[in-house]
Amino acid sequence: MNNPVKLTQTDHRHLWHPFTQQQEWCAEEPMIIVSGKGVYLRDIQGRDYIDGNSSIWTNIHGHSHPHIVAAIQRQAAQLDHTSFLGTTHPSAIELAKRLVALFPKNSLSRVFFSDNGSTAIEAALKMTFQYWQLIGHPEKKRFVAFSNCYHGDTAGAASLSGIPLFSDRFAGIHFPAEHVASMAELEALSHQESIAAIILEPLIQGVAGMRPWPQGMLQAVRAFCNRTGALLILDEVMTGFGRTGTMFACEQEQITPDLLAMAKGLTGGTVPLAATMVTEKIYAAFLGSTEEQKTFYYGHSYTAHPIGCAAALANLDVFEEEKVLEKLPATIKHFDKALTTLKNMSHIADIRQYGLIAGIDVMLDPTSKISYPWQDQMGAKICRAARKHGLLTRPIRDTIVFMPPLCITTEQIDQAVEALGKAIEEVC
Ligand SMILES: Cc1ncc(COP(=O)(O)O)c(C=O)c1O
Repeated sequence: MNNPVKLTQTDHRHLWHPFTQQQEWCAEEPMIIVSGKGVYLRDIQGRDYIDGNSSIWTNIHGHSHPHIVAAIQRQAAQLDHTSFLGTTHPSAIELAKRLVALFPKNSLSRVFFSDNGSTAIEAALKMTFQYWQLIGHPEKKRFVAFSNCYHGDTAGAASLSGIPLFSDRFAGIHFPAEHVASMAELEALSHQESIAAIILEPLIQGVAGMRPWPQGMLQAVRAFCNRTGALLILDEVMTGFGRTGTMFACEQEQITPDLLAMAKGLTGGTVPLAATMVTEKIYAAFLGSTEEQKTFYYGHSYTAHPIGCAAALANLDVFEEEKVLEKLPATIKHFDKALTTLKNMSHIADIRQYGLIAGIDVMLDPTSKISYPWQDQMGAKICRAARKHGLLTRPIRDTIVFMPPLCITTEQIDQAVEALGKAIEEVC
């Protein structure tokens, strides 16, 4: 299976890729990735690319980090899988303890494992819904999310979506969620006592096009929840594990939520695993005898997968051993500086950056705010052109995402930004 022509034929014959118009995919030669090392991915022709979107925002310490690989191998040889329904295992137990220790004492003290960002959100929604029933407030069932938010693709998580392109078609199978664009709109909601939870991507919205919130937003939402009794669900699926400069984004405004979803970077971006963390207060509401029917009937076959847990433990080891968070400010400073070299290019309308996350908007005429016709797919064309210069990334419409692994060096940042600049110049 290493013949590119045969692989292409077989891919085109049998696969269905996510978020992909298959008719167009099958008309083109696919990029076949065969290996990864550090910040680089290698294609079947032997060309190396800087992984400019951390393999869809997951990778943290670079590909195939030896410590994480060894942990995965050890775990696979020792215990590949066991059900988490009715049994437990050392890696999950140890991981839960270490995750709880990442948050202030007596805040998020319980860990519920699942498989990906969407399931971590799905669990948070169902926990919230059941929690209010269990404590005698079934009227609290309104979920409030923010315009342009994204929380995943399963029907529950997608019900929260603030992005019409992804959610409108499925409106008929979604539950009704409310959307607000700002704190002012949140404050203006009527009957605030019936809100079950507010859900938010802290500090920066991802799929919306890498859009940072105004400073103080998190504290303001926390204060709103304290006043109205609504639970605060933070979606740290993208922002968790150092991406914004701290282990979790919520640390930067010194707040903790009632529920927190994490996924992508939890295993360093190696294997799927997610967690929904909750306060002891929420957890305690579910306690009782079986007959009381307070049990949380939710779970997946691979919940707390041992290999995922081992990878996540190794991910946390690397954070400590390589002093990743301590090194981040210098990397972020260089990232910021490197991006400013693009600012004066004629078709760049805006560059938004937070930590090691950047969104670069291109427009036909930035001065008059005239976008390219969406059919031109300029973002996709630019990312395609960037490959020729050794950078692999994906756009969100006409926003180019640059979100490298945290281990990227300053030289590699410069190379990636140069590649972006050349690609934008060629295409625009
Ligand atoms: C903020 C946020 N929440 C949830 C998700 C869904 O995660 P997953 O793709 O692992 O289901 C994503 C994915 O991009 C995300 O960015």
